[in-house]
Amino acid sequence: MANGVLTDKRSSLIDPDIEKKIDDLMAKMTIEEKVGQMNQYTSTWDVTGPMPDEGDTKDRYQKVAEGKVGSMLNILGAQATYEAQKIAVENSRLGIPLIFGYDVIHGYKTMFPIPIADASSWDMEVVKKGCAIAAKEASAAGVHWTFAPMMDIARDARWGRIMEGAGEDPFLGARVAEARVQGFQGYSLCDLDTIAATAKHFSGYGFVIAGLDYNTTELNQNTLFNTVLPPFKAAVEAGVATVMNAFNDYNGIPVTGNEFLQRDILKKDWNFDGFIVSDWNTIGEMPIHQYAKDLKDAAFKAAKAGTDMDMESRGYEYHLGDLVRSGKIEESVVNDAVRRILRVKFLLGLFDDPYKYCSEEREKANINTEEHKVISRDAAKRSIVLLKNETSLLPLSKNIPSLAVIGSLADDKDTPLGSWRGQALENSAVSLLEGIRSAVGSSSDVRFEKGYNLASGKREFTQELKFEGIDDTSGFDAATEAASKSNVVVVALGEECFQSGEGRSQTSINLKGKQLELLKKLHSVNPNIVVVLMNGRPVAEPWLYENIPSILETWHLGSEAGNAIADVLFGDYNPSGKLPVSIPRNLGQVPIYYNHNQTGRPFGYPNDADMVFWSHYTDSDKTPQYYFGHGLSYTSFKYSDLCIESPTMNMSDTINVSVRVKNTGALAGEEVIQFYINDKYSSTIRPVKELKGFQKVHFEVGEEKLITFTIDWQTLAFYGSDQEFKAEPGEFDIMIGGNSQDLLKTELELLDS
Ligand code: GLC
Repeated sequence: MANGVLTDKRSSLIDPDIEKKIDDLMAKMTIEEKVGQMNQYTSTWDVTGPMPDEGDTKDRYQKVAEGKVGSMLNILGAQATYEAQKIAVENSRLGIPLIFGYDVIHGYKTMFPIPIADASSWDMEVVKKGCAIAAKEASAAGVHWTFAPMMDIARDARWGRIMEGAGEDPFLGARVAEARVQGFQGYSLCDLDTIAATAKHFSGYGFVIAGLDYNTTELNQNTLFNTVLPPFKAAVEAGVATVMNAFNDYNGIPVTGNEFLQRDILKKDWNFDGFIVSDWNTIGEMPIHQYAKDLKDAAFKAAKAGTDMDMESRGYEYHLGDLVRSGKIEESVVNDAVRRILRVKFLLGLFDDPYKYCSEEREKANINTEEHKVISRDAAKRSIVLLKNETSLLPLSKNIPSLAVIGSLADDKDTPLGSWRGQALENSAVSLLEGIRSAVGSSSDVRFEKGYNLASGKREFTQELKFEGIDDTSGFDAATEAASKSNVVVVALGEECFQSGEGRSQTSINLKGKQLELLKKLHSVNPNIVVVLMNGRPVAEPWLYENIPSILETWHLGSEAGNAIADVLFGDYNPSGKLPVSIPRNLGQVPIYYNHNQTGRPFGYPNDADMVFWSHYTDSDKTPQYYFGHGLSYTSFKYSDLCIESPTMNMSDTINVSVRVKNTGALAGEEVIQFYINDKYSSTIRPVKELKGFQKVHFEVGEEKLITFTIDWQTLAFYGSDQEFKAEPGEFDIMIGGNSQDLLKTELELLDS
């Protein structure tokens, strides 16, 4: 694996035999039956959007029997999916099977780290494996298709859905996208343990203004092509079967009605052969955007723009047939959409055996197994980022005489499951306290104190959290007492699982309630503190980061969270994660990201340091608290001898750049070696740094390795104002290091030949 790119590509979605079968089937279909394939209903096994007030399940199954429904989402279980499928196959005229979709985001029942945590591993095999397990469990529960991976680049920690993607960088985002698609889809969609994947949300959703979910976006073409689209293009090249559009607009047009995005780029330029499903009711929301006159107009605009399947708006069901009969929409538009949908159903093998995923035996045998928990724990420990370990307080000894574990999050068996938790059993995660107790056994006196409160009452995916007791400090004394009497204090701080995720934007990215106040009290009686952050979005807390000697960023790590964190706390695993997103010092800096443009007045612009006319804040450092790519280890790595094969290269050349990396510490460990470029001048401005490769490599103590990356024209290329992807002759900085800041640098000139 060079440059972090997984090499095993997938076949395309076009199979001539299947295309012939589609021809034959479509020749028999009425326009109503064709429109039926483009209509998706939700069931009520899970609620992931504003529920329609349409009849109950019985009415919906009647529509299935009439051939008016092509897909259902949120219906789960071998038995339930069998019953629904039976109606479609045995009652409808042509017996076309339904395709069942569900949000299998980071696990079905065995929860893996939330996606931003998973991305922190920078280990594409680990990412892929987690998705493969999720697919195995979901397919055993009758699910054919997951609405994942989400690949929205996000730079704004106010946006709750930053937890759902791979962070701020398009190269890492693209590598994670292809790994997740390959994990879900495997080598063949027809395999029983694989499911169709979805590249979502196409596109630009992560750029909602002010991090306010469902908001409008201000996105220029340069950022669209060079930052937003690369993960989607990688997913299409990895053979993703479907794409989901988004709630936002791009360039003044809701993306569900945006021909430029859906037809010109995705279907024409990229030759995407799967189908586009709308996000929940995005067709029905076009009149609300004030882009469509009514639902019929919205259906017309969405079909014309290439939205193939309508999730929960009824726009296609009620109006598409009339639009075709009136000639407003060519039947060929409908035929193309239906062909794409039938293609995926054939590839899944649903026509050969519509009930292949409906085995109750498989469901019992394949879900939430011990083997899956072991794999989840392995992924979780590799996702942990050691932000700081100033006095080498970590790793802790398992024989430490006394250990205080403080914070309601430490005893929380539910929050680690994260948002978008599929069918995870409530309170089924291994808590941090359980993980610590299991690791030390009776060899250490572990005392727990809750210390602070966070959410009160039942947590619901769809409901606002309540924080009635959040200002209660009655737990402070007991916590402080425990801390004063312990060798080391482990404090769990962060966010509730449903403080992030869909519909969970916040104007604050600090620790909620009295967490920081308690931390300062604990620190006043015992400075030997390890903070374990458990959060869905980056948290801005300068005092914490500057005064606490050891800090782990653990995000929400899934079912085995407590065991994985204990593995790192006690050194059974040497932490190897790196940040996929910058951590701000304060909200005022947001959006903040490493791959920003230079601007005309960067740091150091005026030679007179007191002059103000340069890009800075008068009241804050403009650098992040922690940079993209940052992550420490219990050992140390030395980078030396950066060497480029030639100081110049032609367009057709491929040259190598290498660096020596040595483990100079006392423990074996893994390092993510990162390769960046900077284009010194170009026809459109390029970021000060662009990640173009990474390799996660294991080093024994004292081991030194030569790490090599390849550079060809594509490494140096970008989308210019003409939307063409090309490299321009000129000078480049070539940089390699263990994060996006501490880099060895050399130079390269790309010649015009
Ligand atoms: C939600 C989400 C989308 C999800 C879909 C189905 O609103 O935006 O990511 O896949 O609806 O649950």
